[in-house]
Formats: sequence, structure tokens, C-alpha cells
Amino acid sequence: EQKEKANEKESLYLVSEFASHYFKNILHKTDQGKSIGLSYFKERGFTEETIDKFDLGYSLNEWQAFTDEALKKGYNIDYLAKTGLTIVKEDKRFDRFKGRVMFPIKSMSGRVLGFGGRILITDKKAAKYVNSPESEIYYKSKVLYGIHLAKQSIAKEDNCYLVEGYTDVIQFHQTGIHNVVSSSGTALTSEQIRLINRLAKNITVLFDGDAAGMRASLRGIDLILEQGMNVRVCTFPEGEDPDSFAKQNTLEELSDYLNSNAKDFIQFKASVLFEESKNDPIKKAETVRDIVNSISKIPDRIKKEIYIQECAKIMDISEAVLFSTLAQINKKDH
Ligand code: CTP
Ligand code: MN
Ligand code: MN
Ligand code: MN
Ligand code: MN
Repeated sequence: EQKEKANEKESLYLVSEFASHYFKNILHKTDQGKSIGLSYFKERGFTEETIDKFDLGYSLNEWQAFTDEALKKGYNIDYLAKTGLTIVKEDKRFDRFKGRVMFPIKSMSGRVLGFGGRILITDKKAAKYVNSPESEIYYKSKVLYGIHLAKQSIAKEDNCYLVEGYTDVIQFHQTGIHNVVSSSGTALTSEQIRLINRLAKNITVLFDGDAAGMRASLRGIDLILEQGMNVRVCTFPEGEDPDSFAKQNTLEELSDYLNSNAKDFIQFKASVLFEESKNDPIKKAETVRDIVNSISKIPDRIKKEIYIQECAKIMDISEAVLFSTLAQINKKDH
């Protein structure tokens, strides 16, 4: 049975690899692919080299063009269904991805695990991105988009930029920054952080320039602290994301921006929370617990103490209160 499982996984890898080549071929070799998909990528400012490096593709705007081709080539319908590339409903079969530009999602070693597909014109009717479902080979919590192209640079720089989306990763590469990965819209997991932790001790989280996204992400960052990594955060001007910002700037400008705007996470969080709650004692009490809770995740005791001192200054509260809050939290946890 062990062997059957291994065989099945291998079959899912093969059908995913086939799909990636198929979508890439459609993008470059068909009229629809060229006039719609390729023009879309070019309008976004992606060069031929970039499009090729990320094996970007296009799915025809037809009901079962891909499925038909895969079956014709001898790929088993069960595996097409299990990867989610084909949606099977009773006796009908549909392509999951239809009229979308395609982003293959790869493992650390570069094997295709699944896809993200972006609609070309965003409106309210269809989701902007459709993604492969989880499968025997694709566990979303264990995957980081771009990791296979980033791993060497992450190790060399001892830092990993973490961005929200596929296009942020791609545009950074094109601009010349390679130590970048994305959790692709899902909340960051401990497994994803472990992948990075094996390569570097530093993570810099880059937020899209919208307040909602940032607030939501602040919590997930405690998971990074727990693993003893140093965390910095950097925001972009309102309405910009790492993709749009990188596109407007040279490598030198982008690097300068990142270097001068990346802030220590704890200090950043403390000042955001302080600004929000300084005029409201009840809220302030909550935010003090919130920041101390983050600090409590840091394994290193010296760092913990330094952060307590820093946050006392930032939040205009005594160190003693912060230390006693920390002691309370520690008691609850053990
Ligand atoms: N995402 C998703 N499904 C959606 C919206 C977003 O899976 N309906 C994921 C995608 O991985 C996307 C990431 O969340 O890349 C970030 O979302 P967003 O910032 O909205 O998209 P961008 O990556 O900026 O894409 P674009 O520039 O093409 O709009
Ligand atoms: Mn290939
Ligand atoms: Mn966003
Ligand atoms: Mn974005
Ligand atoms: Mn974007």
C-alpha cells in the first residue's frame, strides 16, 4: 500500500508538470494565448525572460480544452480530478482554470504542485484568483510561492522577504531581489516559517498598502517570533503593493526603500497599537497585553528583556507593569 501511495503521488506530479507545460505552450503558441494572456503579462511589465523564468501560462476560455488534451495524451481522469485540474460532476468534466493567466506553484525542489489562475478583468462576478485545491502533493500550509527560486538567495542574504501575492514575488525578481516568497493570500503557518528558518534567521514582512491586510497579518507574525527568528516589517504607500512599487523603481531605489523603511516588528507593533489606543485607557490595557503577548513568544530571554524596555518607552508605560504582565502570561502558558 505504501508503494501504491508513492505511485499515486508520482502520477499527480506528472499530471501537474504536464499541465504546466500545456498552459505555458498555450500562452506562447496560440492566438488566444498571445493576444490575451501574453499581452496581459506584458502590460503588467513582465519581460519575456521573467515570464519564462516563472513558467507562466494561460488557460483557454473553453470548458474542457485542457482536460481533453490531457486525456488524449493518456493522463488518467482520476489524477486530473485529484489535482483539481479537472472538475468532475456526474458524467461531466470541466477545466478548473478557464480564460485565466496561470502561475504554477512549485516545491522547494521545483516540482509543480498546483496553480493559481488570475482572471484578466476583475469585476464582482468572478474571484480574481482561482487556486488548485489541496491534494496528496499540495498542502497549502507547507508551500511558499517562489521558494525554489529564492532559497539560495535567502541563505546568502540571511533574510527572506515575505509578500502577499504571486506578482509581488515575480516583480521583485525582475527588479533584482531574489530572496522573496509569498504565502499566497493564506495566513502564514508554522510549517511555512520552518522552511524559511532552515535557510535564514531574518524575515522581513512586506504589507500591501492597505490597513486591513496589515492588521490581519500582525497576529500571524507571532508564529515567526516563536521560532526565534528576527522579524522586520515594511509598509508601502497607500494603494501600492510590492509589485506596483517595485515596477516604478530601480533596484537601487527599491533596496534603499526597503532598508530605510523596514522596522523591527515589536517596535512597529507597539507604536501602531499605542497610536490607536493612547486616548482610551481600556483599549490601552488591551494593547499592552497584546504586545507583551508577542514578546512572550520570543525564546531568547535577553531579547525579551530588551523589548520590554523598548516597549515601555514607546507605549509610555512602566517597565514594571510590562514585566508583571509577562509573568502572568507565562504562568497561564505553563
Ligand atoms: N488571492 C487569492 N484569491 C483571491 C484574492 C487573492 O488566492 N480572490 C491570493 C493570491 O495568491 C494573491 C494574494 O492573495 O496573489 C494577494 O492578493 P491581492 O493583493 O489581492 O492580489 P495581488 O497579488 O496584488 O494580485 P494583482 O496585482 O494581480 O491584483
Ligand atoms: Mn518543466
Ligand atoms: Mn492585498
Ligand atoms: Mn497585492
Ligand atoms: Mn498587486
